[in-house]
Amino acid sequence: MRSRMKIRVFEPADEAEVIALWKSTGLAVPQNDPAKDIARKMAHSPKQFLIGFIDRKVVATVMYGYDGHRGSVNYLAVSPQCQGHRLARTLMSQVQAQLTAQGCPKLNLMVRQSNPQAADFYKRIGYVEESVVVMGKRFIRDA
Ligand SMILES: CC(C)(COP(=O)(O)OP(=O)(O)OC[C@H]1O[C@@H](n2cnc3c(N)ncnc32)[C@H](O)[C@@H]1OP(=O)(O)O)[C@@H](O)C(=O)NCCC(=O)NCCS
Repeated sequence: MRSRMKIRVFEPADEAEVIALWKSTGLAVPQNDPAKDIARKMAHSPKQFLIGFIDRKVVATVMYGYDGHRGSVNYLAVSPQCQGHRLARTLMSQVQAQLTAQGCPKLNLMVRQSNPQAADFYKRIGYVEESVVVMGKRFIRDA
């Protein structure tokens, strides 16, 4: 399955399939409007939003970024039917290669405490849990 996945940058026509994937993988949460999240990413750094396809169907997504100090990743998702085939590992390898090529020295990412499976995935591909408190402040309410 992994060898059949093609990766390219998000295009507007992908939006409905991408949002359906996020809903089916539990990434769509009430406080975030996925269409607004996509629009903001398109306006800011559209090349840093990758889509994985198999047979022209969206099976995986990842949004990433680099602020000049640290890299970040959001919306990593693989469709339930395709999980366990190293598609997320493949997407993350591509993200890591692109960030490294930009001179990014380290990637920081957040995993909800309610999602230990995602934490186990990240540990498996080399990430370590760090002793930090994540703090956030919302500027724009989506819902
Ligand atoms: C987390 C997620 C992206 C992993 O996708 P995936 O394609 O199934 O993962 P991969 O097959 O690439 O897994 C890579 C490695 O991690 C391991 N792994 C994956 N999920 C794991 C889990 N829950 N527990 C332990 N190991 C896990 C795999 O066994 C594999 O190991 P290997 O390559 O050394 O054999 C996928 O389960 C998903 O979309 N979950 C819902 C959305 C989500 O939680 N996203 C992350 C938000 S922070």
